Amino acid sequence: MKVLAINGSPHNGGNTAHMLQAVLDVCAASGHATELYQAGGRAVCGCISCWGCEEHPGRCSFDDWINELYPKMAAADAIILGSPTYYADLTPELKAVIDRCGFIAMFEGRKFSRKIGAGVAAVRRAGSIHVLDSINHFFLISDMVIPGSTYWNMSLARDPGEFEKDEEGVATMQRLGENIVWLLEKLR
Ligand SMILES: Cc1cc2nc3c(=O)[nH]c(=O)nc-3n(C[C@H](O)[C@H](O)[C@H](O)COP(=O)(O)O)c2cc1C
Repeated sequence: MKVLAINGSPHNGGNTAHMLQAVLDVCAASGHATELYQAGGRAVCGCISCWGCEEHPGRCSFDDWINELYPKMAAADAIILGSPTYYADLTPELKAVIDRCGFIAMFEGRKFSRKIGAGVAAVRRAGSIHVLDSINHFFLISDMVIPGSTYWNMSLARDPGEFEKDEEGVATMQRLGENIVWLLEKLR
């Protein structure tokens, strides 16, 4: 089955990317196809509320990288969204993914229904719970199924590379990956 992770950080080798990769590695070890998509750092446009995705299902009328990403999300069995914590919230790139791909999916027959959804957040010190809440709001209104882990899916890390020093964060990602694999087998 297919597991897609989307990195909302502009650092493509940063803490969020490494957290997502840690989860994907567990899924790949169990034979699932994995992909890490770099969304952070791209020129971003939020939803312009034109409702074009209702008229032309499956596409955003603002034709940028979102139209490249959406089919990958539609084809995935599990979607993992990762963001660094920016002022206790997610990055604008990830918010654009949620708003625009969420609407495209809704008007394409609730395309994300019963897919697995998990959020992960890198944080220097505080605010990651709010990031995870924002991501989970998207999964819950999209009729998706959210697995847990042994802690909230966060890592205390500032500079790229610090995630690996956060033993509890690493263990949390490992268990999240195991739970995604467990759920994938149930949904197969
Ligand atoms: C604009 C900006 C805002 C940030 N806001 C917060 C914050 O509210 N709380 C916090 O603990 N860390 C904050 N940080 C630190 C990042 O969340 C942290 O360095 C994270 O590990 C970066 O992940 P990355 O390597 O994937 O980009 C902020 C960093 C930036 C650049």
